[in-house]
Amino acid sequence: MNAATNPASRTDVLANDLSTIRPANAAFLATPRRLLIDGAWVEAATGQTFEVRDPSSDRVIARVAQGERADIDRAVAAARRAFEGDEWSRMKPVEREKLLHRLADLIEARADELAELEAIDNGKSVVMARHVDLKHAIEVWRYMAGWPTKLEGQTLPISGTLVPGQEYVAFSQREPIGVVGAIIAWNFPLLLATWKIAPALAAGCTVVLKPAEETPLTALRLGELALEAGFPKGVLNIVTGMGPTAGAALAEHPGVDKITFTGSTEVGRLIVRAAAGNMKKVTVELGGKSPTIVLDDADAEAVIPGVAGAIFFNQGQVCCAGSRLYVAQRHFERILEGVSAQARAIKLGPGLDPNAQMGPLVSSTQRDRVMKYLGEGLEGGARATAGGRAVPAPGYYVEPTVFADVREDMSIVREEIFGPVLVVKPFDDLAEVARLANDTVYGLGASIWTRDVHKIFTLAPKLRAGTVWVNCHNVLDATMPFGGYKQSGWGRELGREAVYSYLESKSLCINFAA
Ligand code: NAI
Ligand code: MG
Repeated sequence: MNAATNPASRTDVLANDLSTIRPANAAFLATPRRLLIDGAWVEAATGQTFEVRDPSSDRVIARVAQGERADIDRAVAAARRAFEGDEWSRMKPVEREKLLHRLADLIEARADELAELEAIDNGKSVVMARHVDLKHAIEVWRYMAGWPTKLEGQTLPISGTLVPGQEYVAFSQREPIGVVGAIIAWNFPLLLATWKIAPALAAGCTVVLKPAEETPLTALRLGELALEAGFPKGVLNIVTGMGPTAGAALAEHPGVDKITFTGSTEVGRLIVRAAAGNMKKVTVELGGKSPTIVLDDADAEAVIPGVAGAIFFNQGQVCCAGSRLYVAQRHFERILEGVSAQARAIKLGPGLDPNAQMGPLVSSTQRDRVMKYLGEGLEGGARATAGGRAVPAPGYYVEPTVFADVREDMSIVREEIFGPVLVVKPFDDLAEVARLANDTVYGLGASIWTRDVHKIFTLAPKLRAGTVWVNCHNVLDATMPFGGYKQSGWGRELGREAVYSYLESKSLCINFAA
C-alpha cells in the first residue's frame, strides 16, 4: 500500500464517521462509563476517569472510570461474598447453565451493536468483528454453558493397606477455585473477556475483570448484559483502569485465588511474580512469533492467500499471527512475490467502512512500536517488498509490510511485532525448517502447508508449539485448547482444559469399617 498513490490515505476517508452509528452505541459513548462492582455501576474511589480514543482518527470518543487499588479491593470483596453466598454457590448446575445460555442469547441479540462498538474502540473492521469476534464469542459462551452439568470427578479403586481391617471408598470431586482475577489485552476485547469469564463462571467461580485500557467498552456492555441475564450481584465485577495500578493490584491481591492473563510476555512475568505472594493459580497466554511453513509439494498459488491472511488478519495484532514465513526453495520467489502483491493490494480504511480490508493499529503507542521494528529491519539490511511505512494520517495506520533478505539475528525475525509485518525466508529441507521454526523463545502456534501426509506427521511432532495447523492458520474453536509452549505461556484456554483450569480437585476418602 503506497500512501502517496492510494486515495484511501486521505485523512477524511481514513477516519470513522461516527454520526452514522447505532443510537444505542451513541448513547453508550455519550456518558462516562463506570465500574461494575457488586451488581452496581459505581465511580472510581478517586473519581478519576480516562479517555478512550478512536484509532482511526485519534479522537476521544468516551470516558471511563479509572479504577485503582481501592476499587480492586472493593471488587475482590464483592466477588468473595458472591462466591461464598448461597445464591451462587448453591445454584444447581442446570440453573447455572441456563444463566450462561441466557447471556449468550443476549449477546447474540446485540451482536451487530457490539461488533460496531468493538470496531470503533479497537479499530478493526466491523465486518470482521461481527463475523469473527462476536460469532466466536457466542459459540464460546454456549460451549461453556454446557459444562456445569458435566464437571465430573472419578471413583478411585483404593486399597488402603496401611491400617489393617479398614474398608474405604474414595472418590474425587471438582470444586470451583474461588475468586478469579482476569487481565486482558486489547486485540480481541470482547472475545478475550469471554475466553476468561465464560469458563470461570461455568466452573462456579466469581470474577474480577480488568479490561485493557485501550479497549474497555465492550467489556462494560458485557457487564450490563450479565446483569440483565440475572447473574447474582458480585459474580462478575469489572474494573477498568491502568495496568501498573489496577492490573498490578489485582495480580497481587491476597483475596484472589486464580489469576488469568492475556498480554505481553514481559507483563506475564510480572503477573507470575505477583501471584507468588499467596500462591495463586496462574494461567498466562502470552506472545508469539509463529512460523508458517510452505513445503515443496504445496500448490504455491493456492497457499498465497492463506499465508498472507495468517499475518495480516486483525492488522497482525494476533498472538498466534503467522509472522515468520518459511518457504521451500522452489516456491520462494513466487510466494514472496504473491504475498507482497497481496499486501500491496490491501485496502486500508476505518473499521466502520465495510470495504476496508485493514484498519489502524489499536493505539499510537502500538503504531510507534511497529514503526520502530520497520526502521530496525530496513537499517539491518532487510528488503521491504511491500509497505514499510506509516500512513500520514491522524489514525494509527501502518502499511502491510513484507521483508525478504532477513537474518536470524534481526529483531524483526526474533521479536513479537504485533503489527502487519511479515518476514520471509527460504529453506532446503525438513530438518532445516524445523530448526528455524523452533529458533524462538515463543511456542504458541505454527502452520504447515502441504498435501503430503508423511511430511505432516514428520514435521508436526517436531514443532514446539501449542497449536499446529495444517493448510490453515489462526483457526480457533470453542472445543480446541489454545495456549503456548515455552515463553508463550502457562495453561490452556478454550475446550475442556479451560474449564478444568478453574476447578480444584478434592479427594474424599471414607472409612466405612469404622
Ligand atoms: P500489556 O501486556 O502491557 O497489556 C496487557 C494487559 O496487561 C492490559 O490489560 C494491561 O493494562 C495489563 N498490564 C500492564 N501492565 C501490568 C502490570 N504491571 N500488572 C498487571 N497488569 C498489567 O500489553 P501492551 O502494552 O498493550 O502491548 C505490548 C506488547 O505486548 C505488544 O506489542 C505485543 O507484542 C504484546 N501483546 C501480546 C498480546 C497477546 O495476545 N499475546 C496481546 C497484547 C499485547
Ligand atoms: Mg504494556
